[in-house]
Amino acid sequence: MPLSGDAIRQQFLNFYAQRQHQVLPSASLIPSDPTVLLTIAGMLPFKPVFLGQQTAPAPRVTTAQRCLRTNDIDNVGRTRRHHTFFEMLGNFSFGDYFKAEAIAWAWELVTQGFGLPPEHLAVSVFEQDTETVTLWQEVVGLPPERIQKMGAEDNFWAAGPTGPCGPCSEIYYDFAPQPGAVDLTDDERFVEIYNLVFMELNRDATGNMTPLAHKNIDTGMGLERLARILQNVPSNYETDLIFPLMQQMAEWVNVNYPKASLEQQLSLKIIGDHIRAVVHLIADGVIPSNVRRGYILRRLIRRLVRHGRLLGLRRPFTAELAQTAINLTGSAYPHVAARAVTIQNELHREEQQFLKTLEVGEQLLFDVMAQKSAGISGKVAFDLATTYGFPVELTAEIAAEQGLTVDMAGYEQEMTKHRELSREGQETVDVLAANQWVELAEELGKTVFTGYLNITGTTTVQGILQAGERVSRCDATAGDVLVILQETPFYAESGGQVGDTGILTSPDGTLQFRVTDVQKKADLWVHYGRVEQGELAVGMSVQAQVDRWRRYRTQAHHTATHLLQAALQKLIDPHIAQAGSLVTAERLRFDFNCSRPLTPAELQQLEWQINVWIAEAHPAQVLTLPLAEAKARGAIAMFGEKYSDPVRVIDIPGVSMELCGGTHVTNTAAIGLFKIVAEMGIASGIRRIEAVAGLGVLDYLNQRDTVVKELTDLFKIKPEEITQRVRELQQELKAKTKHIDQLNTQLARYQALQLLNQTETINGYQLLVGQLGQVEGEALKNAAQELLQKLGKGAVVLGSVPATDKVTLVAAFSPEVVQLGLQAGRLVGDLAKRCGGGGGGRPNFAQAGGKDPQGLPQALEKARRELRQKLADPSNK
Ligand code: ALA
Repeated sequence: MPLSGDAIRQQFLNFYAQRQHQVLPSASLIPSDPTVLLTIAGMLPFKPVFLGQQTAPAPRVTTAQRCLRTNDIDNVGRTRRHHTFFEMLGNFSFGDYFKAEAIAWAWELVTQGFGLPPEHLAVSVFEQDTETVTLWQEVVGLPPERIQKMGAEDNFWAAGPTGPCGPCSEIYYDFAPQPGAVDLTDDERFVEIYNLVFMELNRDATGNMTPLAHKNIDTGMGLERLARILQNVPSNYETDLIFPLMQQMAEWVNVNYPKASLEQQLSLKIIGDHIRAVVHLIADGVIPSNVRRGYILRRLIRRLVRHGRLLGLRRPFTAELAQTAINLTGSAYPHVAARAVTIQNELHREEQQFLKTLEVGEQLLFDVMAQKSAGISGKVAFDLATTYGFPVELTAEIAAEQGLTVDMAGYEQEMTKHRELSREGQETVDVLAANQWVELAEELGKTVFTGYLNITGTTTVQGILQAGERVSRCDATAGDVLVILQETPFYAESGGQVGDTGILTSPDGTLQFRVTDVQKKADLWVHYGRVEQGELAVGMSVQAQVDRWRRYRTQAHHTATHLLQAALQKLIDPHIAQAGSLVTAERLRFDFNCSRPLTPAELQQLEWQINVWIAEAHPAQVLTLPLAEAKARGAIAMFGEKYSDPVRVIDIPGVSMELCGGTHVTNTAAIGLFKIVAEMGIASGIRRIEAVAGLGVLDYLNQRDTVVKELTDLFKIKPEEITQRVRELQQELKAKTKHIDQLNTQLARYQALQLLNQTETINGYQLLVGQLGQVEGEALKNAAQELLQKLGKGAVVLGSVPATDKVTLVAAFSPEVVQLGLQAGRLVGDLAKRCGGGGGGRPNFAQAGGKDPQGLPQALEKARRELRQKLADPSNK
């Protein structure tokens, strides 16, 4: 009976407990170290101890640490040994024992404890660490040919770019021992099972390494890997730690795992891996979101759902599968079972939300892919992310399945633009800290707002702030200042409605102060602006005058916003709620929860309904009601918002009733007209409508009219002929583009044939690496394919700098080259990185792009060298 995963974990901990190690529970996947996102190794919780910032819990410690890494996510299910979530068994010495003991115990545990035959073991050692080589030979008696020296890339371990690090030595299991020297890079024959890190250095931000105060030991044994060996199964996935999850899933989709296709097996493995990851992430307190850990969780859940669908399962399943995963955590991680309900609820919610849009999004992506052979644009990836909740990595994954790449740089650009847009209008520099505003409010007294009834009034200047300092007077030379008045008719920005603008004047007419914005700070209305004429002084009596038309236009938009919310609830979904709002004189912007875009017909219905309410001239009245009564009468309140009691309610009887502190028209007729100008997705499950009302509609129409006039002048046609003319131009352009494409293909072919004489023959394979002139992606692709056909068995790598001054790369490998384990996708991905880009594709054919043409010659040279080497000696991968 092979050891179970649970038994292996326990045996490891017992072994070190017997050697005076304190057994500590696994730390959370959310590290306390703010510089790292997730716990990626068993040592992470002890980073401050290694650095001497914290005292060690004990000189010797042993743990089974749950870890999560996303850098290997693309390998999950494709190799036998990569995971996102895994468990690392470790023994640690904090300035206590060092190399000799660590090596002796590791060997004893592996050979005697777990019973692995010594002839099935081999080790790697950092090439400069002769001491360790000697120890393996002398302490353990390992023959020299079973010890391989390796460079820093493999045998120097660090927790990140900075922090504790040191040389390491790894124990490998050999599935097929043979006489002679070992080659540990052969990962079909060998698998690393136990890494011993001799933690003795600290690396700073400049890369400098200094010795740590103590010499320490940090080790890591992959539980899933050891289980694979001890349970004698083909990969980590068939161990009792993961396989029950895959079996459960296979049952649901009626698939017999051993007989399943490779794609089905891959999906099952990805599901087996990811369900463990999401269960532990949620158990440790992560919730799905669009940033940081929440994004990783969301991405994993969405991949789960998608692979479930690839297997043909269309119903929600993650919550149910999670229960199996929770059962598997058994006694080792009791906190997971304790949070079972939360885990299942979170998964169910997220899955439902994603399922709603998945189908539409997938269809859209497939349509785009069917049209575009070159790749997915950044805009499409962005729309998929914001409208359908497709993490860009998922889009890239689906695209890669079809041999297409996503323009990641373009996607990032769209995202940045989007972030800037959502920040728009939020930026005001705050000159005092929050508590200082509270103190100032206590001293000056609350501002009295008179602006619901009047937009002018006489008041007294109570305070002036210039560059964060209280001053008693100021004039035009002071520039921007902040003014606090005893009473004010100016509305301070809140509830999405912008602050009023206007002027302050003195009775004698010498002062003119322009108010450009008003913000509420503590209980003060703070007027931002500057003296244009005369002098403003504390204690002065001033006449305050709000810009009349700006206020009227703003409140028309505010009341229109209430009508919009009422219409959405009436016509689209009664559960629609506000998720954000901006009300200005020019337009309104209303964000709300809705999992799909609204159709043009629905937008028209909304417009129609709102304009009917406007035409019906409903009175809009302001009520003051006890909060409970307002709610009982069905007034809409914002979820999570704090309201005073009694509350202010805007009531448009029979149409809308909403808790609101804003200013409004007294009758809907004053809105005049309402027009939607845009509808878009701004985040997963959140839509935005932009609309104009009243005079805003006139502005909008005038702008449109100008465009139409310009077009009719330009084309010398009537407005109703514009569409037809543009269509004709598009067709003409299409025909010309096609013609250019043909010329390009011919040009590329011609250039490519010139290259043929640069072909090298290596070990029976034909290798051609070269750069073409200004050749576009599609033509380059065809050229590579044609060349490969001419060469037969071999590899073709082409680069070019098309007219757009970007880099395009393609690689085409014949089946024989792919069989050597070389992958076109990986190669171009690597090359593209050197040209400031990215991409990939299938093993036999791939395409990528970059931004930096200067990197191209070097990148091609590197590809040539690498391929020469690999084709010359295929065993040396
Ligand atoms: N910290 C070492 C690793 O993660 C043991 O491999």
